Amino acid sequence: MKLRIVTAGVGIQWESALVQACQDGAVRAVVVQRCHDAGDLLAVAASGKAEVALVASGMRWLDRDTVVRLGSAGLAIVGVVPAGDEHAERRLRQLGIDHVAQGKARPVTLIEHARAAIAGRMDGHGGPGDDRSGQARHLPAPRVEPTDADASGSAGGPDGADGRNALVVVWGPKGAPGRTTVAVNLAFEARPLAGEVLLVDADTYGGSISQTLGFLEEHPGLAWAARSSSRGELDAPKLWHATHRAGPGGPRVLSGLPRADLWTEIRPGTWQSLLELFRLSFRITVVDVGFCLEEEEELLYDHVRFRRNAVTRLALQQADLVIAVARADPVGLHDFIRSYQQLRDIGVDPRHVRVVVNQLRGGLYGGDAAPQIRTALNRYLGVEPSVFVPYDRGAMDNALMMGKALREVRRGSGPQQAMEALAAVVVGAPAAAPQRRRLRRRVARRRTVLWNGRPSGPTMTSRNLGW
Ligand SMILES: Nc1ncnc2c1ncn2[C@@H]1O[C@H](COP(=O)(O)OP(=O)(O)OP(=O)(O)O)[C@@H](O)[C@H]1O
Ligand SMILES: [Mg+2]
Repeated sequence: MKLRIVTAGVGIQWESALVQACQDGAVRAVVVQRCHDAGDLLAVAASGKAEVALVASGMRWLDRDTVVRLGSAGLAIVGVVPAGDEHAERRLRQLGIDHVAQGKARPVTLIEHARAAIAGRMDGHGGPGDDRSGQARHLPAPRVEPTDADASGSAGGPDGADGRNALVVVWGPKGAPGRTTVAVNLAFEARPLAGEVLLVDADTYGGSISQTLGFLEEHPGLAWAARSSSRGELDAPKLWHATHRAGPGGPRVLSGLPRADLWTEIRPGTWQSLLELFRLSFRITVVDVGFCLEEEEELLYDHVRFRRNAVTRLALQQADLVIAVARADPVGLHDFIRSYQQLRDIGVDPRHVRVVVNQLRGGLYGGDAAPQIRTALNRYLGVEPSVFVPYDRGAMDNALMMGKALREVRRGSGPQQAMEALAAVVVGAPAAAPQRRRLRRRVARRRTVLWNGRPSGPTMTSRNLGW
């Protein structure tokens, strides 16, 4: 049975030689099509006519998303590089192409590579787009030494892959429960406990971390990182330089999209590889995502797939830990309880979720609100809140006006201590004993539960929750 191949590299010497060899019967293969662009190649992949593509590394349209899509359509890929071009070979591997051949290779050798690529797919090593393998594919894990001045006193640079690094995704339903506030402050609080922390703004409905932290200059952010990764040009050192230190002891920040309508810049295949790179490069990555979990229709332009909520869904599915933020009032809790079910539906394991109840204040539910909220979350979702964050408009305004974290401007305030306790939960460190004692004293004094409040008091009913 002849191997069915498709080529992309018309006019390049190896490609012409291969086509000729197929026509002469010098190799047991048939060329089903010679493609000129991504559209051609994706169409052949979708038709199922070919088993393997041999693609020249110089094709400008060859990016990670195309590789993912070809892989998803079941096509094996061999990248062909000019002889000795290490840069081209590295780029292909970063795009997720495992099988790379030299352009000076004879047609028979190229066909051997093609067969090996097909065998690799069957073994379940089909690259990042091979959904059937079900395995995350890892990029190389370069170590990065911090090079900018403010990194000199840091608790160590990005660790690289060592099994300890964690991807933490902060999510919450509609109604601004405080995802960004929690993400920013968690990242600041985790830094002294964990080492180098990356804070990523990946809200495709409008990021606000740059504004929250008062960044005046434009920095290369998520859109830049996505474009660069899609071309196979992003590695850990470049990621490091695309990020920006927030305050002397703060996390590094990858800014979000400057305009919400630029969400199409972040394609699912690229986002997947970015998440892998974040995890490999930083001890902790905190990602602020959008609220919406719905699986929307796929938009197809020019053979490219777009899905706005895929960024949130994929991040949640890949997370080591999900911080789910609920607003303490009846409307906020109602939204949270409804949306939490969707989290489960997209495959997030409830054991990897920590619930934060934000904006807790007196006056809600006519009594001590925390125990009532705890009881409701237990009853309706079977979950235990990890942290209650008190409502403190003054502290938040102070932080917003200064473009800083609570830790920097309102240390010791109720929300700051709650965020510190949350960071301890995330990092797996016990909250400092003196702080616990301080917290308990405050709790007793103010009857406001900041941290791990005990259930007591009247039970919240579905009526006062509003449904
Ligand atoms: N504990 C708190 N006390 C007082 N105000 C708070 C608290 N937490 C958050 N806020 C305020 O609530 C508003 C919304 O917070 P934030 O922007 O973090 O929410 P979000 O869930 O990220 O919203 P969006 O959907 O706009 O992204 C902000 O003005 C913030 O300062
Ligand atoms: Mg936000």
